[in-house]
Amino acid sequence: MAFPEGFIQELKARNDITEIISSYVSLKRRGRNMVGLCPFHGEKTPSFNIYTETDSFYCFGCGAAGDVISFVMKIENLDYVEAVRYLAQRAGMEMPDDNYDNSMSNLRRQIYEANREAARFFYKTLMSPQGKPGLDYLHGRMLSDKTIRHFGLGFAPDSWTALSDHLRQKGFSENVLTTANLSVKRRSGSGVIDRFRNRVMFPIIDLRGNVIAFGGRIMTNEKPKYLNSSDTPVFKKSENLFSLNNAKNSGSRALLLCEGYMDVISVNQAGFQFAVASLGTALTSEQAVLMKRYAEEVIICYDADEAGQKATARAIPILRNAGLGVRVLSIPNGKDPDEFLKAKGADGPEAFRALLEKSGNDVEYRLQKLRSQYNLSLPEGRVSFLEAAARLIAEIDSPIERDVYTSRLSKEFEIDKNALLTQINNLNARARRDHRRKEMRQMQSDLSGMTARTDAERGVTQRATAAEEGLVVYLINHPDSLSDIQRQLTPEQFTNPLIKRFYDYFSQRIADGLEPLNNITADFTTDEQARIYRMLHKHTAVAQTPRSLREYIGVITSESCKPEDKSAMSDDDINHYFARMRQDKK
Ligand code: GTP
Ligand code: MN
Repeated sequence: MAFPEGFIQELKARNDITEIISSYVSLKRRGRNMVGLCPFHGEKTPSFNIYTETDSFYCFGCGAAGDVISFVMKIENLDYVEAVRYLAQRAGMEMPDDNYDNSMSNLRRQIYEANREAARFFYKTLMSPQGKPGLDYLHGRMLSDKTIRHFGLGFAPDSWTALSDHLRQKGFSENVLTTANLSVKRRSGSGVIDRFRNRVMFPIIDLRGNVIAFGGRIMTNEKPKYLNSSDTPVFKKSENLFSLNNAKNSGSRALLLCEGYMDVISVNQAGFQFAVASLGTALTSEQAVLMKRYAEEVIICYDADEAGQKATARAIPILRNAGLGVRVLSIPNGKDPDEFLKAKGADGPEAFRALLEKSGNDVEYRLQKLRSQYNLSLPEGRVSFLEAAARLIAEIDSPIERDVYTSRLSKEFEIDKNALLTQINNLNARARRDHRRKEMRQMQSDLSGMTARTDAERGVTQRATAAEEGLVVYLINHPDSLSDIQRQLTPEQFTNPLIKRFYDYFSQRIADGLEPLNNITADFTTDEQARIYRMLHKHTAVAQTPRSLREYIGVITSESCKPEDKSAMSDDDINHYFARMRQDKK
């Protein structure tokens, strides 16, 4: 499976990488390149770079790297063929005639289609006599028909095979149905049964309008209350949010983060479109980064019970780390948003708006919580509270914000503001240092993870690998040097099998008169491709000369004569490599 070279070349020429990325990341110029906050991991200082010279991106923080096609794959969660189709459509290009679908892309498309057909089936069933229990249930929960239609809610009938039969009749194979997690294999015998039975159904829709999964609620007190699709080739629970497809069109720069499907739907019905829910799991950093693409601020609106409060405390740093402002909306009397709105009846929208306006930012929320833990009528209670409050305020990045809270506390407790502020700023400096150390450790372990993955074979010395990498990069940047290099080296002299593969690949392409990097998204895995761009940026930064080439060849020649060194990359090597990377960054 490969697209014609010329097609990919034109596709890349007509989809400027900076233009594409700038619709997801706000970019600043730095020299010839552009930098911004990485959309693939949470960070507050930009380490995501676009190199206009090679039309590639590279993040020093998480190691993500690639070309415009792999960027679209990663950010839109598409496979290769889907990403090419997406970019072709964007540029108004025709896709080549042949059937370029590889089997994975084909399977994903069939799952999307099966899911869409299943959603249609559930909705139709809900509106049929058979769906009466479901419709009664939803009406009982005060949802209007308009809301039901808007969210495409449905009903899975009380039957073992209704959906499976329906979808098979439409031509979907059992394999597609089980991979989509719409059906499951019978425990005994052959055939499949429906996964969702006798439940009201909530379709989960991605940002491009595909039905990617379902949640199903039982209508009694039985367990489990909600049954959700497990992860499939088109659905990763930790990377999606319920109703983001709807909330992103609200025109608000904030998102309201709820706990459940019903909360989001009720809040919508009350007139607030900007609600989303994490899908029955603790909030993940991927979900936070996803929200950052559409919002500046997140208002946490979890249940008022203890579990909800704990979840709120966990979510705050995750959202902050993604660069989002955070507020917390507290619902009185231990209710969740859905129950609150239902209890208020016709006054619901008004009452909810009042709660929204009252919602404080996360620091106020946490200070409030803290306050309730100390006895402030006693001097030692006040001292302990102030110490804890100082630690909390010290976590805030913005010095202005720190100043504001310090002022408030010093006034309230009649203590010297400067003394308190000095203490807080010292704590803050220490926290930053700890944070940097933690980030470094994280990066190191990511880095060694990546090295272990891509350099699967052992017995590769760092010195040889560095020279081999340098040579491959030199070759990519100076295709004319191919015959010169081939006269002095044979591929068998490479000690690192992965770099040898790169070398073989690029020399073949150059020999065929092709642009070396044009097609690497099709020919390498995401990890391998990231590795290629990483070494490209590392070695291009040192301005290679013909003398560097002679050095590479020298090292490769001498290393290939050595008996094999069985030691893998040591911690020192990794530290050294890491230090080099930091250096390159400057
Ligand atoms: P209602 O009772 O229908 O109002 O739901 P709720 O949203 O108030 O329920 P709850 O606060 O208990 O749960 C919040 C979210 O967690 C739900 O919307 C589901 O996404 C998820 N959840 C709840 N119960 C289960 C369960 O039994 N299994 C799984 N996988 N997820 C659940
Ligand atoms: Mn509820």
